[in-house]
Amino acid sequence: MKNVSVIGATGYTGGELLRYLLRHPGVRVSHATSERSAGQKVSVLHTDLAGRLDLTLVKNDPDKISKDSGLVFLCLPHAESAAWAKKYLDRGVKVIDLSADLRLASVKSYEKWYKTTHPHPELLKKAVYGLPELYRAKIKGAKLVANPGCYSTTSILTALPLVKKGWARKGSIVIDAKSGVSGAGRKIESRYLFCEAHENFLAYAVTGHRHLPEIEQELGQSVTFVPHLLPVNRGILATVYAKLSKKISAKELHAAYAEFYKGEAFVKVLDEGKFPELKSVQHTNYCHIGVGLDPKGDTAVLVGVTDNLGKGAAGQALQNMNLVLGFKEGTGLE
Ligand SMILES: NC(=O)c1ccc[n+]([C@@H]2O[C@H](COP(=O)([O-])OP(=O)(O)OC[C@H]3O[C@@H](n4cnc5c(N)ncnc54)[C@H](OP(=O)(O)O)[C@@H]3O)[C@@H](O)[C@H]2O)c1
Repeated sequence: MKNVSVIGATGYTGGELLRYLLRHPGVRVSHATSERSAGQKVSVLHTDLAGRLDLTLVKNDPDKISKDSGLVFLCLPHAESAAWAKKYLDRGVKVIDLSADLRLASVKSYEKWYKTTHPHPELLKKAVYGLPELYRAKIKGAKLVANPGCYSTTSILTALPLVKKGWARKGSIVIDAKSGVSGAGRKIESRYLFCEAHENFLAYAVTGHRHLPEIEQELGQSVTFVPHLLPVNRGILATVYAKLSKKISAKELHAAYAEFYKGEAFVKVLDEGKFPELKSVQHTNYCHIGVGLDPKGDTAVLVGVTDNLGKGAAGQALQNMNLVLGFKEGTGLE
């Protein structure tokens, strides 16, 4: 049995991780932390865990927690996370960071988009971008994994085969993405209140969302990315449009996607002519992708769905943990 801890366990990703970890046969949760609710039972904050996880929340204390944790998940806000990553790494503990602090290779880009000075730019070189479908081999030997963003995971997986084939005309990719409200975390902000979000639909961060540089970093080209707030609890649907750089048939496009994701347990390319929906992936670690051409035949239309708390966060973090600790990749996830 391996011991792991969840730092920032009272939020949405922390809670989801605890649920995934409970289903994993090879790990035990040693500590779950909270600054504001230390001393309370985890189940006070995540009521579905009552009778299933009898842990009392403790403050984040790397000296204590590293004594009986081989790996920690950081489920903290960006700009807060990197400093804790450093403390745990210095104590010999492996780290999977769910925040954005270690995802961008360029410190300049991080400081531009997150409008803060990076406390440990040296860690950017050490962090492996935790998208197993792209970096599986590197994740296996990693001490520090930067778990990708939810929009980024969905957008990258959906566009990647087309880009790798060289079939997307440079600069033509448009990603129109929609996320459920849990994507914003458990914070209290008027836009995310029930009466504001329910029965409503809106675009936000139209002139620049923080997941844009991450998507461009991994796709290796400039894209247009517009996120929307969907009045559902969880799930992301991203429609990727790209002008084709050569003439291909819908059949060829579909075959390329099927080939690219052959053998990938958590990415399912739907049958030709089929497009995915949120309910198929909610509460799972799966990404479903539908592939087609527009009627003129010059534009690929690719639709991907994930659960922002599953493949977009906690599920993927567990998939990465399995690789880092040497478990079968799908343990606790299938
Ligand atoms: N939500 C998603 O769909 C999603 C998907 C992918 C990645 N992420 C990323 O994952 C991270 C966590 O997201 P979330 O949605 O779980 O957020 P959340 O629901 O707002 O939870 C944040 C957690 O961080 C703790 N925290 C907040 N401020 C802190 C501070 N200054 N110092 C120490 N702890 C602090 C909170 O603990 P207490 O208040 O109890 O002390 C809470 O446990 C974020 O970086 C987010 O961008 C989120």
